[in-house]
Amino acid sequence: MNRKPIFAANWKMNKGASETEDFVKSFLSKLQGQDFPCEIVIAPPFVSLPKLADLLHTATAVQNAHAIQIAAQNCSQFDAGAYTGEISVLMLREFFVHYVILGHSERRAIYGETDAVINAKIKKAREANLKPIFCIGETLAEREGGKLESVLRTQVTEGLKDISEKDLADIVIAYEPVWAIGTGVTATSQQAQDAHAFVRSLVAELYGQDAASRIRIQYGGSVKPNNAAELMACPDIDGALIGGAALEPQSFLEIIRNGSSQSEE
Ligand code: PGA
Repeated sequence: MNRKPIFAANWKMNKGASETEDFVKSFLSKLQGQDFPCEIVIAPPFVSLPKLADLLHTATAVQNAHAIQIAAQNCSQFDAGAYTGEISVLMLREFFVHYVILGHSERRAIYGETDAVINAKIKKAREANLKPIFCIGETLAEREGGKLESVLRTQVTEGLKDISEKDLADIVIAYEPVWAIGTGVTATSQQAQDAHAFVRSLVAELYGQDAASRIRIQYGGSVKPNNAAELMACPDIDGALIGGAALEPQSFLEIIRNGSSQSEE
């Protein structure tokens, strides 16, 4: 199955508009003349979306700009109204946002997002034709307690509850072991591959083999230029969701270069 790898920068709460501009200008100049067989996505903080949209979609003089897709890091599960501090999917659409990261472990752990909330957000995103990057992953205690598979099963089953097969085709799953996020500890390629194969088997149980072989599953958690190739060489890993190492244009580019040359055709 030919799955196009997807490399997404999750900037978290880093880079306002001016730093976004510096990054994009430098990144695009490095990208110039290179054509990687993958999708490249940047997820800045909400307030930097207008600047990113402007740089990538309205400043037509910028070469290669259309090679990059824009993602948001979250969205509301509601349409509009009295939800202080929230951002709706329609607001995101105004800034050429195509992807939205949902269910990130920081949203789950710090902001108490449950599988049901994440499921509601995935549905809302699909109503607006946004493509969710749906994050799942176990904590170290869960892994060490032998609960890896049951945790992933619950997250996948509840997160995708009542999502149609048609909508599934526009969803990317990001497997991110919580113990590997921002810690410098990466899952070994064998640990990552085993978890990805298990997640794909869960999708097969829910939607059938075809849908399972089509869905892209990114790995996230301390992906760096020097481990991207080995991880991306695994048959069930279809790209990466990158935090810390995507804050520098050069290292994000090297991850894309090293990773996309390895990905399965
Ligand atoms: P990291 O973050 O690359 O800094 O580990 C990944 C993520 O949280 O998506």
